[in-house]
Amino acid sequence: MTDTATPWWRDAVVYQVYLRSFADSDGDGTGDLRGVIDHLDHLTDLGVDALWLNPFYVSGEADAGYDVIDHRAVDPALGTLDDVDELLRQAHARGLRVVGDIVANHTSAHHPWFAAARRGGPGHPARARYHVAPGRDGGPPSDWQSLFGGPAWEPFGDGDWYLHLFDVEQPDLDWSHPDVVADVERTVRFWLDRGFDGLRFDAAGALAKAPGYPPIPAGERQPGDDHPFSDRPEVHRHHRRFAALIAERPGRFGVAETWGPAWVGEPYLRPDELQQAFAMDLVFTPLDAAALGEAVRDYLAAAARHGRRPAWPHGNHDVTRAATRWGPDGALAVLLLLLALPGATYLYAGDELALPEVEIADADLRDPTWRRSGGTERGRDGARVPLPWTHTAAGQHGFSPAGTSAPSWLPQPPGWGAHSVAAQRADPRSALSAVRSALAARAALRDAPNPVWLPAPEGVLAFRRGDVVCVLNTGAGPLALNTWGSDVLASSRTLDGGGRLAAPGTAWVRHGTGSVP
Ligand code: GLC
Repeated sequence: MTDTATPWWRDAVVYQVYLRSFADSDGDGTGDLRGVIDHLDHLTDLGVDALWLNPFYVSGEADAGYDVIDHRAVDPALGTLDDVDELLRQAHARGLRVVGDIVANHTSAHHPWFAAARRGGPGHPARARYHVAPGRDGGPPSDWQSLFGGPAWEPFGDGDWYLHLFDVEQPDLDWSHPDVVADVERTVRFWLDRGFDGLRFDAAGALAKAPGYPPIPAGERQPGDDHPFSDRPEVHRHHRRFAALIAERPGRFGVAETWGPAWVGEPYLRPDELQQAFAMDLVFTPLDAAALGEAVRDYLAAAARHGRRPAWPHGNHDVTRAATRWGPDGALAVLLLLLALPGATYLYAGDELALPEVEIADADLRDPTWRRSGGTERGRDGARVPLPWTHTAAGQHGFSPAGTSAPSWLPQPPGWGAHSVAAQRADPRSALSAVRSALAARAALRDAPNPVWLPAPEGVLAFRRGDVVCVLNTGAGPLALNTWGSDVLASSRTLDGGGRLAAPGTAWVRHGTGSVP
């Protein structure tokens, strides 16, 4: 493939802007679109290629914007359609692409369709747009549990129940209904026409449910299993349709929010489907060279069978912060590993600062998981705490305008300013500096050949792409790099006096410039 024929998204670094926690321009304690516009320089300084915006649509705010009331209108608390246009304009002027988020599996319970379904009563045609079924023996139609805890069925109080795989405020749409298909297609076209360069498809594997809502099989999922609501073969008809809509506009792409190992994501990467699917198990892989190597090789092979490359998530708004999952050094080591591989890397806002997961007091928790699990699962808020921009405390460390008295929607913990962009920018040993240098050095890997795996001692993963060698050290002690090369292009941590890489750490070296055996 020649340089010009390489699509921009193939190896892009996509920075996930978690809108509500990124920057608050108007002092109401919640991040907004203007806040993103004001901080676009942070993204260009960092050197990412694109930003992905979580949902900013009119919402019931039961699941931080993933319960959508109007898919084609902006939540006034977050901005206006003009702000979206301005954001697209300013991002594009800086050479940044913008990725949106399509929530196709469910609506808010306050969506006009659902209000009509609720009012309509049993047998009403408005109920056919959702998964509605009569109760069984005085209970729900099936034993399905919500992914946020508790039963997945809620009674209307008139004999019918509706399905919600997520919160009770997020009724699942029935994708066999033509209105549902037509409306989501309209939404996809609407945002593409507005200028979005890519779209993420939320809960991509959940769009089809088995007729009769049969019991969930016990135990781990296996290839070829017939799960009643996850990754059913029927969902691919819809994905092919999404892909066709995207193909109408050259240069755009779609990414499926898939969960699970490579065999789950592989069917989503067939040539007539969306261009990317998340290699999600990566985020649950322990900080161990052998385990990471195996996961990486599985996803690479699955994608390559379809002429595709993986989308590597390093973290996101649904999982524990990388710096807590892998430790601060481990999070950077894994990031440099992912950045060195073929495929796109998704970097979650705040992970460039190595922000830790925050312990939030019970009373301040907002994630529906907390309530639905009866207080046994704390949920995802700890990874969603508003970003610290300044060392000083004013305006919640620069998240809100100075002088703002409104508390941020999730509280920042004491000491948050030490992690701030301002504190790290000036420090060459900070996480921010390491990420920025790695992104700059990544140019050396542009259009590099596929990885060739190299022999390495226990606890070390090493591969070569052209003349760049990537070495991940998760072993017991510091590692001399001169086996592979001596010209260090980037490293997740400062090398020791002897030029050795401590664990956990990743370095990229120019092959052969050292004492190669
Ligand atoms: C996706 C989102 C998550 C949301 C869920 C329901 O998994 O990433 O935040 O809660 O879908 O829309």
